[in-house]
Amino acid sequence: MSIETEEELEALRAAGRVVAAAIRAMRASVRPGVTTAELDEVGGRVFRRLGARSGPQLDYGFPGVNCISVNDEAVHGIPGRRRLREGDLVKLDVTAELDGFYADACVSVPVGRPTAPATSLVACARRALGEAMVSARAGEPLNSIGAVVERTVAADGYAVCPDLMGHGIGRKIHELPHVPNRYVAAYSQPLTEGLVLTIEPIISAGSGVVRTAGDGWTVKTSDGALSAHVEHTVVVTNGKPLVLTA
Ligand code: CO
Repeated sequence: MSIETEEELEALRAAGRVVAAAIRAMRASVRPGVTTAELDEVGGRVFRRLGARSGPQLDYGFPGVNCISVNDEAVHGIPGRRRLREGDLVKLDVTAELDGFYADACVSVPVGRPTAPATSLVACARRALGEAMVSARAGEPLNSIGAVVERTVAADGYAVCPDLMGHGIGRKIHELPHVPNRYVAAYSQPLTEGLVLTIEPIISAGSGVVRTAGDGWTVKTSDGALSAHVEHTVVVTNGKPLVLTA
């Protein structure tokens, strides 16, 4: 959506605060031995306390509140009995709906003592997100976001997962436009003030090719390589974007 009124901005900010609070609580509960279902419940409790609902559940019937993906799982992991182990990398992807407005964010969190490969992959994803946010200003072409992400990730010897991208958001979890994590010439339309987007580098230490697992939801790297994902929901302005999910 594109924000037209102060009320819409305030409603989106409120949804963004729910996402940030859920991520904070879930991140604080990440430790060896915890199950992904237990982490999901931590986020679910925050949603219930603040009157929010799960975006993927509402819009797609996702079998969980939050998408929780581990190691080679890139996105859309289903919370369950899997116990996190020292050295795992868990991605907490949280989308809340509050009073008809949606916000979406993701963090990649090492379990226990971070491994060197995870530390450097996550640092790269975060840097790509930071640099892409700087380039996401009104008047810039939409594809400058992907160009920046792709360049940043390739410079570190990693790959983006080209099938997985950011998106418009606001009244639904997924709205147009798509926000690819690589340069796509056709996406040259200028960004406009008030446009609400997710920026979400989803990257891999391998080829970046992904496939959907047998559960019909979890998207994994085809080569089993480690994947990292960081995301914010932002509002495009004439300067730095407004980050709703910080
Ligand atoms: Co998203």
